[in-house]
Amino acid sequence: MAWTGQCPDCREWNTLVEQAIPKPAPKATGRAAAGGNGRSLGAGSAGRPVRLSEVAASRVKRLSTGIGELDRVLGGGIVPGSLILLGGPPGIGKSTLTGMALANLQTGGASTLYVSGEESASQVRMRAERLGPAALDAMVLAESSLETVLGTIEEQRPAVCVIDSIQTMHSSELSGAPGSVGQVREAANALAEQAKRLDVAVILVGHVTKEGSLAGPRVLEHLVDCVLRFEGERERTWRTLSAIKNRFGATSEVGVFEMRSGGLTEVLDPSARFVEEATGAQGSVVLASMEGTRPVLVEVQALVSPSELEVPRRVVNGIDRNRLSMILAVLARHVRLGLGTADVFVNVVGGVRIDEPGADLAVALAVASAQRGEPLSGPDGRPLACFGELGLTGDLRYVAHADRRVAEATRFGLSPVIGPGGERLSGLSPCVTVRQAMKVAFSGLKAESEAAAA
Ligand code: TYD
Ligand code: MG
Repeated sequence: MAWTGQCPDCREWNTLVEQAIPKPAPKATGRAAAGGNGRSLGAGSAGRPVRLSEVAASRVKRLSTGIGELDRVLGGGIVPGSLILLGGPPGIGKSTLTGMALANLQTGGASTLYVSGEESASQVRMRAERLGPAALDAMVLAESSLETVLGTIEEQRPAVCVIDSIQTMHSSELSGAPGSVGQVREAANALAEQAKRLDVAVILVGHVTKEGSLAGPRVLEHLVDCVLRFEGERERTWRTLSAIKNRFGATSEVGVFEMRSGGLTEVLDPSARFVEEATGAQGSVVLASMEGTRPVLVEVQALVSPSELEVPRRVVNGIDRNRLSMILAVLARHVRLGLGTADVFVNVVGGVRIDEPGADLAVALAVASAQRGEPLSGPDGRPLACFGELGLTGDLRYVAHADRRVAEATRFGLSPVIGPGGERLSGLSPCVTVRQAMKVAFSGLKAESEAAAA
């Protein structure tokens, strides 16, 4: 295709995307071609709907990757013939994770193929050597030509195939550079079609941009059955794996890993690791959060400093920025904590991303603690734990699984936990409004313990 910078129709620049011309569909045959029902033009042949109960239920046996946290996030392992997109920033451990999974699958008797478009076979081997002898059993193909990769899969028919990465694949039928929207889309489409046809499960590794979205077209997310996000702070060793989309399971499960010298290790008790690191310093509070089906304690930190900007900064890491704006508005209105001229930074420690409203109170308390310069701690000097959603009217709203959150905090000696009332739970210090929660957090718990000591 010739390079065309400007769209001849709408006169916009750089909006054109190259696309391969689809091969003509085979001529219609049978009933449709015979035009049997003689209906007017436009009506195709009629399909035959079937009752769902009569559809043969496919009891697929999932393939275990041998990595418990990965299997759990996938909803119980890899579904044969499914298409999985694993996105993450460079250096986070995508190649390590997929390499480990393939090694385990291969050892478990499933045939595998690791297609590396980024590294040479010897580079892949070097990584595998760090992961242990089993990793060397996996089959590798260092190739970035889409046609060659498709041909190899056609011939080898592995049970599971990893394409590392989808951005390096390029088709000779398109002139666009590897990684361009047209190329990525073409490669993903062709691989998806083949995966379904041959019942090969394909894991597409994808790079994400700095903003956190997957480089390349969003169409990838629609195309695949499952979108996994692998993230963390590169300088630190924590990694979290979560599903953004999953046709075969829940999207709320989060797997926690630690990058070590011998590859990724599963962190089976993340609360223990995060609480251990919690400081109890000013601006720090422990959130009793739910990550899918399991409670996890994470540290939420805030920093408030006078701003030199017209529009003060709101910087978040691990929570939604709009949510912070809402919480600051509630604080301003209902506890008279004005931060209109201050920069506010909020961070969830460990690179964890919290996607639930139950985090509101933790953010509010961390910000208030940072603003007042007063540390928040429980009666015995341990970090303070809390949870709960803030309503716009300043009420503290109920969130699911209060009992499990409180139990998890109690397990680490972090009680009483401040949270919404409604349920009578031992270890919970129930509050009805954010104002009341503030009061209890800054004086109530201390007063309680002093009274007990007297
Ligand atoms: P890698 O899987 O190559 O990341 P990605 O494919 O997402 O770009 O691994 C990235 C980092 O992990 C690399 O800097 C080295 C480190 N690493 C370890 O610390 N231990 C190990 O056992 C391995 C294989 C990698
Ligand atoms: Mg890689």
